Amino acid sequence: MEAPWIRIVDLAPHEGQEVTLKGWIYNKRSSGKIHFLQIRDGSGFIQGVMERTAVPEETFQAAKGLWIEASVEVRGTVRRDERAPSGFELSVSDLVVVSNPVEEYPITKKEHGIDFLLDNRHLWLRSHRQQAILKIRDRVILSCRTYLHDRGFLLVDSPILTGSIGEGADGLFELDYFDQGKAYLAQTGQLYLEAAAAAYGRVYCFGPTFRAEKSKTRRHLTEFWMIEPEAAFFDHKDNMALQEDLVCHVVAQVLEHCRPELAFLERDTSLLERIVPPFPHITYDEAVGILQKLGSDIPYGDDFGGDDETLLTQQFEKPVFVECYPKGVKAFYMKQHPEREDLVLCDDLLAPEGYGEIIGGSQREDDLDRLLGRIREQKLPEESYSWYLDQRRFGSFPHSGFGMGIERLVAWICGLQHIREAIPWPRTIYRIHP
Ligand code: 4AD
Ligand code: MG
Repeated sequence: MEAPWIRIVDLAPHEGQEVTLKGWIYNKRSSGKIHFLQIRDGSGFIQGVMERTAVPEETFQAAKGLWIEASVEVRGTVRRDERAPSGFELSVSDLVVVSNPVEEYPITKKEHGIDFLLDNRHLWLRSHRQQAILKIRDRVILSCRTYLHDRGFLLVDSPILTGSIGEGADGLFELDYFDQGKAYLAQTGQLYLEAAAAAYGRVYCFGPTFRAEKSKTRRHLTEFWMIEPEAAFFDHKDNMALQEDLVCHVVAQVLEHCRPELAFLERDTSLLERIVPPFPHITYDEAVGILQKLGSDIPYGDDFGGDDETLLTQQFEKPVFVECYPKGVKAFYMKQHPEREDLVLCDDLLAPEGYGEIIGGSQREDDLDRLLGRIREQKLPEESYSWYLDQRRFGSFPHSGFGMGIERLVAWICGLQHIREAIPWPRTIYRIHP
């Protein structure tokens, strides 16, 4: 009987049976009598044990000649092994070499520098660590999407090429768009979502966004993925309640589904178990007061730098909402505070452990004249916002939304040193390859 092809993740019901695995040799140890083959197939990792007496001599010799990352088909019997991370081991009865590498695999067991690893990002993705991170990223994205879908938010994709500046004139990737003048890579899908919210009430988009910021920090990418919900008739408070619930949901889903990956990353999950409502709220004014007491020299009115955010979040175990910033440091579309015309109804959600801002959100300015005033104040090209202003012309409505940076969220949940590991192909000011 043919041994069926099973993926490592699906082996449990096949205990005691003969199966075929298709994958790559992750590592190998040998003695004269036995080969221990670490096999990975993308779904998991397993040890294959090949005894010299159990296979034809030429198969044993073929296994001896395997290089790291050789692709193979392996037949064997599934045995329970409590010590194995997958819970199983394979007693190998046959092996076919699909392709043996043409030279030694460049990523070895020794420590490599980060530039070398990033130059080899296409290969580095095969490592156990990178697989753990990208599986958590997949769970984060899946849980965001199902969360929003289940609560009646409609996915409305927004364009990447746009003629209207979404956030501000700083940090734009610009190109010439045929005979139509300048186009930009989207900094946000928000303006389009606001239009879609007028059509469907609750909407979201999820896609890559671009910032030509010259920031060389461990929190900044030039291309990152953002999930952006927008809801009609939500005010500033409704908006924050949604953010809190979404973040708690995502963390809980990762804890439920990604224990082995978190364990592999040696993440202290007790810190994640604490991520339950309610999150603390402070105002911008209070935040500046706290920072100044802690020794920061931030003047009132400035935006927080990375160090300020870290200092501030060290005071809290959970993510903290900082509300109502001065309008001078925020985007043109935010609604003016009803009692303080120098402030806007916005919030930044700052993650614990120094991971900084994971969400930026606001109630949107729904007054036509005020919004127009803000566009003029920030010297944005008024003509390109005519369509956007139509939301305020035809049935203006209170509405709010936010953007959550997927890589910042993944970096925090995984406990990564740097955001670049949270995305398969990181783009920073220094890196466009591979
Ligand atoms: O605060 P931001 O700039 O907000 C917006 O773009 C709004 N239009 C979103 C909305 O209301 N629909 O960005 C939102 C989030 C940040 O909190 C952060 O998590 C992430 O996007 N982010 C970045 N992530 C990685 N690298 C960068 N350079 C980032 N800039 C922002
Ligand atoms: Mg922000």
